[in-house]
Amino acid sequence: MANLTSTTSILIAATVLAGTLAGCGGDVSSRDKDGGAGGDGGGLGTPDRIYARSTYKTLTDIQQRVLSTSCAAQDNNCHWNDAYPQLTSEANLISLTRFRCNDWRSDGRTYDDFCEKNGDILTVGMAMQPAVDAGMPTVTGMSFTVGRIEAVHMVPADLASPIVAYEIIVKETVPVTTDAGAPMPVAFSLLHFGQTTPYFIQPMPGASFTDKPDRVRIALNRLPEDKLVNIVPGDPNGNGKFGTGNGFIVVPGDANNSYLTIRLLGPILDQRSKHPRMPLEPVAMSPVNVSPYLGPTEMYAIKSWINCMSATDTATVPVNYDCAANMENNTKP
Ligand code: HEM
Repeated sequence: MANLTSTTSILIAATVLAGTLAGCGGDVSSRDKDGGAGGDGGGLGTPDRIYARSTYKTLTDIQQRVLSTSCAAQDNNCHWNDAYPQLTSEANLISLTRFRCNDWRSDGRTYDDFCEKNGDILTVGMAMQPAVDAGMPTVTGMSFTVGRIEAVHMVPADLASPIVAYEIIVKETVPVTTDAGAPMPVAFSLLHFGQTTPYFIQPMPGASFTDKPDRVRIALNRLPEDKLVNIVPGDPNGNGKFGTGNGFIVVPGDANNSYLTIRLLGPILDQRSKHPRMPLEPVAMSPVNVSPYLGPTEMYAIKSWINCMSATDTATVPVNYDCAANMENNTKP
């Protein structure tokens, strides 16, 4: 009876697996010889470099023989979404060089540190009015790197009921005041993508320091919410490690620092991401692996494409395996 039950379970599991692969992963039989069900864990083991060079000569080969069969074949129900990068054509793959990783995430707390951007610069100080008709005022004072923004309720000295204010948590140490929340006669401005955004300059009290050394408080009426969403935070996940701004899905010439590689290795092999390994790992809700992890030969081809590509490559440029940046990939076991 026990044997019958376990045999039945195996049959059911096999049927579920086949169905799942047909629905999401498509035909894995066209994947390379170590990348099918025997895929060993993406990058571990010795790649068959001769096989890769003769099989994955172009980006189309990588697209059709590796990625489509993992994700984008048939009903295209994985990565066929505005929210995260499409992998359904060679043009999509080339465009990954321009995508910042995790950028589609609406909850900043789920960002990987690797994907955090350079935060905007907040300057708190005195507004300097320019000569008549010579342009917008500027602010001189202390500058801080924006980490993230929290909404807080506060009761200002001149009001009885609480109002909403924003506390901008910053990288540098802020002078603390025991008179927490009292507005200071200062203006503030934000340096955004290398330019001071003039609409944030308020030649009136608006910012205050608090009794915490990591934040500047700005009353809601000084920082309209439509402007707030434009502020680029440098530490959206709030763990105190600020981003470098270099987190792209594909970095031409640098496969080891491309988020695509990081996600294909997964958090056990590369801790720069805490998110599930791709193709999607089995989880409690969906215990069957939708598509096997890539094997070392497939990883070798993808890393060669990234290492040897240039930022101006088009989808039709053949995959180069012999550039200097691919030396480690060509020699590592
Ligand atoms: C070889 C095939 C695949 C590759 C190269 C790949 C690559 C990636 C990458 C790089 C991201 C991160 C995007 C970002 O945050 O900027 C991502 C996210 C995601 N992928 Fe895939 N993926 C593959 C297969 C799959 C499959 C088969 C599924 C589901 C059936 C899937 C579902 C998702 C989902 C739901 C996310 C968003 C959640 C998260 O970041 O963990 N992917 N994938």
